[in-house]
Amino acid sequence: MRTLLVDAGPMVHFTHSFANPGSPRIEDSIYAAGKGILIDDGRIVKIEDSYVLREEYSYHGDEPAVIDDLRMRSLGGNAVIPGLIDAHTHLVWSGDRSQEVRWRQEGKTYAEISQLGGGISHTTSATRGATKDDLYRSGYSRMRTALTSGTTHMEVKSGYGLDVETELKLIEVGHQLGQVNHLPTTDCTWLGAHDVPSQMKMEDYVDELLSQQLPAVIEQGLARSADVFCEPGWFSVEHSERILKESQSEGLALRMHIDEFSNGGGGELAAELAVQTADHSYHTPMDVRQDMQEAGVLTGFLPGTPYAMGDAWPSMNSIVEHGIDFTLATDFNPNCQTLSLPFMGSLMVQRCGMNPLDSLYAVTAQAARSSPHPSGNPHGRLSVGSVANINILDSPHWESWALKPSHTPIHSTVLEGEFFTH
Ligand code: NIG
Ligand code: FE
Repeated sequence: MRTLLVDAGPMVHFTHSFANPGSPRIEDSIYAAGKGILIDDGRIVKIEDSYVLREEYSYHGDEPAVIDDLRMRSLGGNAVIPGLIDAHTHLVWSGDRSQEVRWRQEGKTYAEISQLGGGISHTTSATRGATKDDLYRSGYSRMRTALTSGTTHMEVKSGYGLDVETELKLIEVGHQLGQVNHLPTTDCTWLGAHDVPSQMKMEDYVDELLSQQLPAVIEQGLARSADVFCEPGWFSVEHSERILKESQSEGLALRMHIDEFSNGGGGELAAELAVQTADHSYHTPMDVRQDMQEAGVLTGFLPGTPYAMGDAWPSMNSIVEHGIDFTLATDFNPNCQTLSLPFMGSLMVQRCGMNPLDSLYAVTAQAARSSPHPSGNPHGRLSVGSVANINILDSPHWESWALKPSHTPIHSTVLEGEFFTH
């Protein structure tokens, strides 16, 4: 079955390559109202003026209609943007750490909360005790929620198992969820180096990561990347380097969590290893950001984390002005329970003065560089040959994507050609 969408409002397509990659220009990125899209076999095969498509396919109405193998629909002038890509999530875990909010308000740091038995190790115990079915069910409902906010693809990390069996289970669940055809696709990352299990020494755990977890993850064959929480108090730059280099030599792509609480030197390592993306990066100095940029490393900003934890933001405008390539993602985790990229957009646009086009670029075309579609076809842009992942807003203005933090700005989502009204 083919699908024909006509009468789009302004359409943000992001198909040009930009001289200054950090800053897309409106005139290069948006088609004026009136375009239509033809979809075949889950991919975009034509983008044309609606009146041309209406003539060609003899569709003169406004109501959805089916003629032969073609399903047609007028978008009534609503704005259109690409499917959103969440390039950093901890989607699969069990348990609840809501009580930690009061500890934070009493002034306890992330490290102190972890020493009190909260933090990652608390979630790890609950996750180890959960069945695969439990994890699948909660992951399924989280992904349905993400879809209603326009997410069509998610990077999904393990990291709450911290032993071979549970890490493999988390990756398997993340992979299986991505195969369900009415859910976003997934791109799985092994994050065994998220924390050291309680009762274990750092050195012993790093040895276990490399001698047991990594070979098992490679044999399982479902994770595309490896990630490390490189932060003073967690994995040092030296340990991170060892884990990342061995992962790379086993064929995994590399990602990092860096400089979340302090400038720990992770940015220099990210640049040296030319990792795909170095995320959080709140305390990375600008000269190191520029080294990362020159090495082709994306910076993944995760505005939900400082929002939830009450921490300060880096100056996003100076990052845009310096032409740093960045993505925005939810970092969905027990401390930061949002799956809404439009909410991330709202935090950037309505709280940090970021241009709505820069922030949309960060959750679409830029995010696609950080997390490719499993089909190997382009996504995060609307062009002939791309995956037909498309969001129709409930407004004629594309800027509205970032202006509705409490409910979805998305009227409907086309997921690989299938239409979902929210
Ligand atoms: O990216 N900072 C490291 N990992 C997660 C949070 C983990 C947790 O607190 O459960 C993050 O924010
Ligand atoms: Fe994270």
